[in-house]
Amino acid sequence: MFVTTYFLFNIFLLVSSYDPDFNLKTPDLLRLRGFTCEDHHIRTRDGFILTAHRIVHPLVKRVGRPVILQHGLLSSSRDFLINSPAGYLDGYIGKNMTLSSNNLGFELANRGHDVWLTNTRGNTYSRAHVQYTPNDKQFWRWTFDEMIAYDLPDSINYILSVTNHTTVGYIGHSQGTMTMFGLLATSKMYNDIVKPFIALAPVTSVGHVKSPIRYLAKLRTARWLLRTYGGGFLGTNWIIKTLNSAICRSPFKAVCSNALFMLFGFHQAQMNITRLAVYNHKMPAGTSSYNILHYAQNVNSKTFETYDYGAKENLLKYGSKVQPEYALSQITNRDIVLMRGDNDWLCQPKDLARLKIQLQVPLLEDYRIPLKDWNHMDFLWAMEAGRYVNKKIVDILDRYH
Ligand SMILES: *[C@@H]1O[C@H](CO)[C@@H](O)[C@H](O)[C@H]1NC(C)=O
Ligand SMILES: *[C@@H]1O[C@H](CO)[C@@H](O)[C@H](O)[C@H]1NC(C)=O
Ligand SMILES: *[C@@H]1O[C@H](CO)[C@@H](O)[C@H](O)[C@H]1NC(C)=O
Repeated sequence: MFVTTYFLFNIFLLVSSYDPDFNLKTPDLLRLRGFTCEDHHIRTRDGFILTAHRIVHPLVKRVGRPVILQHGLLSSSRDFLINSPAGYLDGYIGKNMTLSSNNLGFELANRGHDVWLTNTRGNTYSRAHVQYTPNDKQFWRWTFDEMIAYDLPDSINYILSVTNHTTVGYIGHSQGTMTMFGLLATSKMYNDIVKPFIALAPVTSVGHVKSPIRYLAKLRTARWLLRTYGGGFLGTNWIIKTLNSAICRSPFKAVCSNALFMLFGFHQAQMNITRLAVYNHKMPAGTSSYNILHYAQNVNSKTFETYDYGAKENLLKYGSKVQPEYALSQITNRDIVLMRGDNDWLCQPKDLARLKIQLQVPLLEDYRIPLKDWNHMDFLWAMEAGRYVNKKIVDILDRYH
């Protein structure tokens, strides 16, 4: 049944007509919708060069506090702009606010926020290092631990120094919530800087995820392959490049581009089917094999823990033979909002309950999307994301100045 649906989708994609948004990257999307894209290159303390896209609105002269929008695993800054074909030109001047508000990046910029779209190491926009190139194995030796230790704090520091602000709003999706929970658990300082932290499809421990990832994690051979290979994973130079010339250019090209739907699950009621190819085209945007291994480790351990390098190396790195967990009980931030859907394969009730038990501070809000079957990607791509997600975010941000 599942497989049949999947292939029907692909056939549908093949016959669906060409969409002008199909091939657009983040900077193109911004320009085409009437904004200016300011590219910032943020150098992390361990030598990665990350690209952040700042949205500059043509009419708003005095922007407010900075707000960071952080994408999830295998994804990119494009997530927050691509849902509906509208931005400033179609939205702000009143043609169709409904469509415009579906894209969180444009919606917040239209309302005077200083929007920063960050990209994690290894994705399409952040594939540079002062010393290594993506062809070097060393380039890919990291997991979300390094995003927590470097990407996130270094990006925040950069943005605060450019804008002269002392606090920043943060909206993360999926892995983008995991890294922030990790940062808040390990660094007291950021608990006073990040206000509010809005977690879309919050993920910390992943012991109960549904989706094929679960079965992959159990497979020793899969883990062995990832470790031995140790390079970039999907959307980089491995599977995609090999398949590119073969499958991806054949009449079956849709098959290669939307494998991600198998991972996240379908929710057809909110999915704009005519736009499926647009959503999928730039996905997956790439990560490291080690990062995927780290997820597999946490699926098996059912905890939110750091990467296991083996007893000897753990001792050097962590001061103990066993890799430590992220201590969510250390979080002191009282401006955390959870937003969750009840059909989210990657944010399951048992994992969420674990997070809530560990948190010692009250949540600002624990919000369930009041619509049946809301899934992991609906936060970004639902036809009513503007109404059910973005409006809520706008209301929350309005309480902070
Ligand atoms: C759905 O996708 C089509 C094709 O890209 C687009 O014209 C339409 O406006 C989209 N609808 C919404 C609600 O985004
Ligand atoms: C705006 O777009 C939405 C979704 O496609 C549609 O339902 C609505 O009628 C449109 N409004 C106007 C004023 O065109
Ligand atoms: C930030 O502050 C510095 C000095 O305190 C000033 O030179 C700079 O123009 C300010 N930048 C912004 C964007 O306000």
